[in-house]
Amino acid sequence: MTHKKHIIILAAGAGTRMRSNKPKVLQPVAGRAMIEHVLATAQALKPNNISIVYGYRGDQLRSHLRYENIQWVEQTEQLGTGHAVQMALPQIADDETVLVLYGDAPLITVEDLQALEDKRTVLTAEVDDPSGYGRIVRGKTGIEAIVEEKDANTEQKAIQEINSGIIQAAATELKQWLKQIDQNNAQGELYLTDVIGIAAQAGQPFLPVKLQDSNSVKGANTMQQLAELDAIMQTRYRNSLMQSGVCLQQPENISIQGQIQCDADVVIETGAVLKGENKFGEGVVIGAYSVIENCQLAAGTVVEPHSVLQEVVTTGACSIGPFARLRPGTQLSTGCKVGNFVETKKAIFGENSKASHLSYLGDAEIGDEVNIGAGTITCNYDGVNKFKTVIEDGAFIGSDSQLVAPVTIGENATIGAGSTITKDTPANQLTVSRSRQKSISDWQRPKKKV
Ligand code: UD1
Ligand code: MG
Repeated sequence: MTHKKHIIILAAGAGTRMRSNKPKVLQPVAGRAMIEHVLATAQALKPNNISIVYGYRGDQLRSHLRYENIQWVEQTEQLGTGHAVQMALPQIADDETVLVLYGDAPLITVEDLQALEDKRTVLTAEVDDPSGYGRIVRGKTGIEAIVEEKDANTEQKAIQEINSGIIQAAATELKQWLKQIDQNNAQGELYLTDVIGIAAQAGQPFLPVKLQDSNSVKGANTMQQLAELDAIMQTRYRNSLMQSGVCLQQPENISIQGQIQCDADVVIETGAVLKGENKFGEGVVIGAYSVIENCQLAAGTVVEPHSVLQEVVTTGACSIGPFARLRPGTQLSTGCKVGNFVETKKAIFGENSKASHLSYLGDAEIGDEVNIGAGTITCNYDGVNKFKTVIEDGAFIGSDSQLVAPVTIGENATIGAGSTITKDTPANQLTVSRSRQKSISDWQRPKKKV
């Protein structure tokens, strides 16, 4: 066979047993649509071409998968796996080798597929409970036939070696054999698996390649099976993190929904949820029950428990939380502290600046060595537009102040506690905007009326 590979991903099925309005292959496993896992694996094999056979709610599928170099093949009526591959044949050149993958079987790995080498093969697995799968009937020189569960006799049903669905053959062979399949079977479908028997009769049998990890072939037809795939994928992710030296505390309680890159000595505590693409520098600690999504945290950053971080970048060691909420566009420099019940959004902090308690800091540019007292709020929104607050180096904002944007607090300025600041404040001076404290000597507490 040639080294020009054409991968066909079958994804036209409705997945009725999911009882969802989404096409089945868009259901997520470890934070990513099932078909995206399959696509990533397919792309890693560096094929010449990838075709996706789509049908049910194809518009949703196509708008979700905005990858380049995909050939889309519509299968308007789902007449079976053989029919699905027939639909893709006109796009396939005669000098290509065809590899068929399933969009609803996301656990297959690059190594699993490399085991097929460049031969006419079927990927198989030995399972305890083969029900529902096609059974592999072995002959002397290869596979004699694949028999679907619904067409199998008692003897065939007892076979525990099953068809993963993944097959590989030369395009010319497949084109020839697919012409010969028919719908004379229990389901009235055009089975791709019938090609295997036809090839054997032509004296060119497919070779079985048995997988070590039978989990790899699992697909999802129901929400229960989807949860099972998710658990297997997450276990793989956690194991690979631990193998690379990441310390996971109670790993089974940590949810990994995406990709993580870690330097040495990262610690992830129990209950953490890690979504999207995260990058953690040396010694980063993710506290218990924190949710971290698409963040880049520099070496030494410590996130205390119960914090929620989305699209946050730290450029040096910082302390975050407990109970902090850092929204997109938050950037912290070395030595910063964002403490409990502080919410930030598009807030850029210089070095050693601190907001230790109870604040909202949005659309803010904060210099170095700034101290923001408890209860400080940037009033960034007039109900229609957003405005920016600038706090220059060394400023001290007294507790419970409101900074009404647009406004600039000058370098080393001090704002008296409880101030409402509506105009720019000068550098190095104290600005207070509350009325002077007075005491009324002849005042009496009201008395209860009888
Ligand atoms: C298929 C195999 C079976 C194998 C099992 C592994 C056949 C006849 N049977 O059975 O031997 O053990 O997978 O999981 O091939 N699809 C289309 N168009 C169609 C029909 C299906 O695109 O007309 C797609 C589905 O979206 C799915 C895949 O093909 O991704 C498999 O289809 P499914 O109906 O689940 O096949 P099984 O009955 O599970
Ligand atoms: Mg299936």
